[in-house]
Amino acid sequence: MTTAQQAPDILSPAFAADPYASYRVMREQYPLIWHEGMQSYIVSRYADVEKAFKDPVFTSDNYDWQLEPVHGRTILQMGGREHSVRRALVAPAFRGKELQEKFLPVIERNARELIEAFAADGSADLVAQFATWFPINVIVDMLGLPREDHARFHGWYTSIIGFLGNLTQDPEVTAAGLRTREELAAYMIPVIQERRANPGDDLLSALCTAEIDGTTMSDEDIKAFVSLLLAAGGETTDKAIAGVFRNLLANPDQLAAVRADRELVPAAFAETLRFTPPVHMIMRQPSADVELSGGTVAAGKTVTCLIGSANRDGERYADADRFDVFRQDLTTANAFSAAADHLAFALGRHFCVGALLAKAEIEVGVNQLLDALPDLALAEGETAEEQGLFTRGPASLRVTFTPKG
Ligand code: HEM
Repeated sequence: MTTAQQAPDILSPAFAADPYASYRVMREQYPLIWHEGMQSYIVSRYADVEKAFKDPVFTSDNYDWQLEPVHGRTILQMGGREHSVRRALVAPAFRGKELQEKFLPVIERNARELIEAFAADGSADLVAQFATWFPINVIVDMLGLPREDHARFHGWYTSIIGFLGNLTQDPEVTAAGLRTREELAAYMIPVIQERRANPGDDLLSALCTAEIDGTTMSDEDIKAFVSLLLAAGGETTDKAIAGVFRNLLANPDQLAAVRADRELVPAAFAETLRFTPPVHMIMRQPSADVELSGGTVAAGKTVTCLIGSANRDGERYADADRFDVFRQDLTTANAFSAAADHLAFALGRHFCVGALLAKAEIEVGVNQLLDALPDLALAEGETAEEQGLFTRGPASLRVTFTPKG
């Protein structure tokens, strides 16, 4: 085990500019680091991150202080039966018939509307004009909330992800996040009460009426879950869709292959999740002393699990630093299930409950964008550089294309 003085520092500007080079050094030389500033251990190898997700000794109690202040209490911080029951209450809406029949048309409509707004322009920023809006608009519509509130939710979304990424503890960003918590509660609680009295055919009504073994969701539970959806379902999908295009635009032969054979879209998404995952790191807190590569972590300490590094582990993937939609060591068929062999959705108890919704959104979004934007290319001067520490993705993706006539 080493200290941050010797190893790459994940809070340094060099790391922010290119974490992937540091990840390699960490995996090879410093598999277990104690970071004094973060008061956390850091693990970077695939085997250790996988263990932290799957072994029940690793709790997610860290979310009590990481997420509860902005969302309220959510399933992410629960364990045992409390988690299983709460998860069973919400999961049906994000898979199977509900997803295919009820929500797919919502996804298609929102993608189409956003694209129509710029398809005749010949240029666009796919982050600012598409990716940041698309998943939020979809969630608002799935919940059955007024479509004229898309911009209001986009504002709350921006404030929540600002709060979660506020490593420098900027007081204005903190205040805006806490204000959003109040505003969202003031908006949601009356709507939830109204929906309980008059349930409709939407996700919010489904949450209001769901019951498992006599357990139902309180108004506060539902409000907290909606808040979580904005971050967990919004920011991730936002960064994923931008990532798919960034990776394909950087590999024009692969872009051409995907454009010609749309069956490859899920493979392009799966490989993007491995190569540039939207969530680069999440924490866990072991309830007992636990052995990891490089030493023992004591019970109660925080462990930061570097998904972005684990997914580039040469012990797990051949030529791991290369984006390759045709790679043989990543199974697309499993990539959106708890049997996934990448770690971008985590694994185990908290495996992303929205993975199939994300897949549906990415498939619809990528296909519609490819159809509407022929000759898609990066705009001059666009470097599509990634930004972010815990979550990471291109800050902008300015592209040009032949305008729709
Ligand atoms: C590419 C898109 C996405 C990525 C990369 C992603 C990533 C993740 C990760 C890493 C976790 C586990 C967190 C942990 O264990 O600490 C998670 C959990 C979760 N995700 Fe996603 N997610 C995505 C899309 C979505 C969508 C679209 C939704 C729903 C609208 C969603 C809702 C959730 C929820 C509710 C959880 C908590 C599950 C639980 O605690 O049992 N996610 N996601």
